[in-house]
Amino acid sequence: MSKTITVIKGDGIGPEIMDATLQVLDATGAGFEYEFVDAGLAALEKTGELLPPETLETIAKNGICLKGPLTTPVGKGFSSINVALRRHFDLYANLRPAITFPGTKSRYDNVDVITVRENTEGAYMGEGSMINDDRTYAEAKIIVTRKGSERIARFAFETARKANRKKVTAVHKANIMKNVSGLFLEVCEEVAKDYPEIEFDSLIVDNTCMQLVMNPERFDMIVTTNLFGDIISDLCAGLVGGLGMAPGANIGKDKAIFEAVHGSAPDIAGKKIANPTALILAAALMLEHLGLGEKATAIREAIRGVLADKDRLTPDLGGNSHTGDFAQAIVERLT
Ligand SMILES: NC(=O)c1ccc[n+]([C@@H]2O[C@H](COP(=O)([O-])OP(=O)(O)OC[C@H]3O[C@@H](n4cnc5c(N)ncnc54)[C@H](O)[C@@H]3O)[C@@H](O)[C@H]2O)c1
Repeated sequence: MSKTITVIKGDGIGPEIMDATLQVLDATGAGFEYEFVDAGLAALEKTGELLPPETLETIAKNGICLKGPLTTPVGKGFSSINVALRRHFDLYANLRPAITFPGTKSRYDNVDVITVRENTEGAYMGEGSMINDDRTYAEAKIIVTRKGSERIARFAFETARKANRKKVTAVHKANIMKNVSGLFLEVCEEVAKDYPEIEFDSLIVDNTCMQLVMNPERFDMIVTTNLFGDIISDLCAGLVGGLGMAPGANIGKDKAIFEAVHGSAPDIAGKKIANPTALILAAALMLEHLGLGEKATAIREAIRGVLADKDRLTPDLGGNSHTGDFAQAIVERLT
């Protein structure tokens, strides 16, 4: 029986890059069925809600969602629909690979780093934060738990094992934040003992940033807490040509949402010039998650080929082709 995927086309360039991505997914022969639902601005216009219950129910039923970028209207409800989705489904692991592709504007030609970011605790809790009336004092809570640290550390090592990765680096600030960051590091060190075939080391976050910029081949997989992971994964995206090439996955116990890291790009929406690569790479992560790694590899190889050919690239990649032509070039290499 074919697998049904929940698809949220998203706002702005979302529908354009999603159509291109589904065309590529279909060309792999994966044979998925798609159930289309809305969130964000599109949902607000149709139903009056940014995240309608039907959308949540469909994701809960199918377990897997491919999501285009969403516009969160300023001043309406919660601050981010993406954060709300992660919380609702307890998607505790944010997986962000940064891999160099040929022909993209990047500083290095050999970057291949996966960042695993804890997605549910750390400095992102919101609860308990305050600012006083005269705005002279603010405070926020950082929460790190043994349970949260252990499940993200295990996720990182299990992912490393499956992907044949050689090393996991725990990134922390335990020298200063002795309790919160210290607990995270302590748990990572304990979990590492269960994976003797994978090299483990740890590095302070400021040094990590410098090393990533000067010496990125030192890294294979990084595991870290929420805020550090947010910053480091964007730094890594910058090392491989920016957000246009950056996919992300939010993974929980039995639900997962795959997305491009960039936003809905309202400045180019409807012009058919958006680069769909990040969402196509997110679809490749989804295939890997579903045990279809060979199809994911085929997609990445096809993207490499199209980038090397240089004849049907979108404007951000230096070409003058439309989103659909770029996707068609990938499809032709897959079929
Ligand atoms: N995951 C998500 O759903 C997500 C992530 C970030 C921002 N957003 C939302 O997106 C909206 C716009 O945010 P923003 O303008 O700060 O960031 P953005 O990522 O949408 O755009 C930043 C710049 O990058 C360009 N760009 C982005 N994706 C591109 C692509 N695929 N091809 C070519 N060019 C691309 C845009 O044209 C723009 O110039 C906001 O409402 C924001 O809340 C959503």
